[in-house]
Amino acid sequence: MSLSEQQVRELLQSVNDPLLKRSIVIRDVKISDKHISVKAALAKTASAEQMDVQQEAVNKLKEAGADSVGLRFEELADDELSPADKEKINPGTPPLLSEGNDTHFIAVASGKGGVGKSTVSANLSAALARQGKRVGLIDADIYGFSIPAIFELERRPEVKNDKIIPPEKNGVKIMSMAFFSEDNSPVLWRGPMLGKMLNNFFTEVVWGELDYLVLDLPPGTGDIALDVHRLLPTSKEIMVTTPHPTAAYVAERAGKMAEKAEHEMIGVIENMAYYESKETGKREYVFGRGGGDAIADKFTVPLLGRIPLAQPNENGESGSSSIFTEDHPIGGIYKTIAGQVINKLERVYTH
Ligand SMILES: Nc1ncnc2c1ncn2[C@@H]1O[C@H](COP(=O)(O)OP(=O)(O)OP(=O)(O)O)[C@@H](O)[C@H]1O
Ligand SMILES: [Mg+2]
Repeated sequence: MSLSEQQVRELLQSVNDPLLKRSIVIRDVKISDKHISVKAALAKTASAEQMDVQQEAVNKLKEAGADSVGLRFEELADDELSPADKEKINPGTPPLLSEGNDTHFIAVASGKGGVGKSTVSANLSAALARQGKRVGLIDADIYGFSIPAIFELERRPEVKNDKIIPPEKNGVKIMSMAFFSEDNSPVLWRGPMLGKMLNNFFTEVVWGELDYLVLDLPPGTGDIALDVHRLLPTSKEIMVTTPHPTAAYVAERAGKMAEKAEHEMIGVIENMAYYESKETGKREYVFGRGGGDAIADKFTVPLLGRIPLAQPNENGESGSSSIFTEDHPIGGIYKTIAGQVINKLERVYTH
C-alpha cells in the first residue's frame, strides 16, 4: 500500500516538536514506489528530542503502511521562531544573573532574629529608590516573610506570559515568599528549597533593569549564605546588629560565615541603637552600646549608621507602613546610609 503526500502530511501533523509543543514543520515530502522521504524542521536537532521525534514519525508512517521511510531534519530558521520559542529552546541565564549585568546585589544579614533586619532592608531599599535608583527587594526570610507588611503592601504580583511581575511600593519592586503562601502558617523549608526558591525569583520574575537588588536573608544559618553565594557570587553584604555586646558577638559569627561564602561585607548598621526623648532630646542607650562599632572594627568596614528606637506609626506616613519618609529624622539616617552604599558600590567621588 502506498501513501499519498496528503496522507503523509496529515500523519505527521500529530508529531509534536518536544520543545515547542506544536506540530513539527514539514518541509518536503517525496514518494517513490514504496519509499517515503520526508524533510522536516525542528527547534533543536542532534538532540535527544530529535531522536524521539524520529522514532515517532517513522512508526506512524510504517503503521500506516509505508515500507521504508527516510527522514531528514534541519533546524528551524531564526525567523520561524518567536521570542518565546527561543526562550524555550535556550532558557539561558536570566538577565539579572547574566554576565555584564551590573546590578549591585546586597544581602542584608544578621546573627540572630528580631534585630530589625527586615525593617532595615525595607527602609534601605526605599532610601535607594528615593535617590533615583532602580531597586528590587527579595524577602528571602522564609520563616517570617515580613516585607509586605512593612510596606503595607496589599497587591500581589501579576502573572503575564508565564512570568511574574513584582508589585511595587515606595519605588521598590518587591518579591516575597508570602505571595506564594495562602495562609499565615509557617512553611517548613529545607535548605535546598530555599536555593530553588531564590533561583526561581531570578528566572521567573520580570525585574527589568535594576541598579540594586536587596535580599533580606533569614537570620543565622550558613547554608543560606552559601546558596546566595552560588547564585550571586558578586553579592555584597550588610550586617545588622543591635548595640548589645552579646548581639555583636553573634553578628560576628554571621560575619565569619559571610567571609566563608566570600561575600564582601560593606558595612554594619546598628539598629535600636538608643532611645531619644522627644522632650529633652536626651539619648538613652536602652540596649547597651558599642555592638555596631565592635563588628565594624572586627571586619574593618564602616558603621553605616545607627537607627534609634522608634514607635510604630511615627514614620511620618499614614497607616501602618514601617517605611520612614525622607523628612523624618530616621528617614534622614537611611538617606545617609543609602548615600554611603552608593558611594561605596558605584565609586562616585564628588570633588
Ligand atoms: N529601630 C526600631 N525601633 C523600634 N522597633 C523596631 C526597630 N527596628 C525594628 N523594630 C521592630 O522590631 C521587630 C523586629 O523587626 P524586624 O522584623 O525588622 O526584624 P528581623 O531581624 O527581620 O526579624 P526576623 O528575625 O523575625 O526576621 C518588629 O516588630 C519591628 O517593628
Ligand atoms: Mg525579618
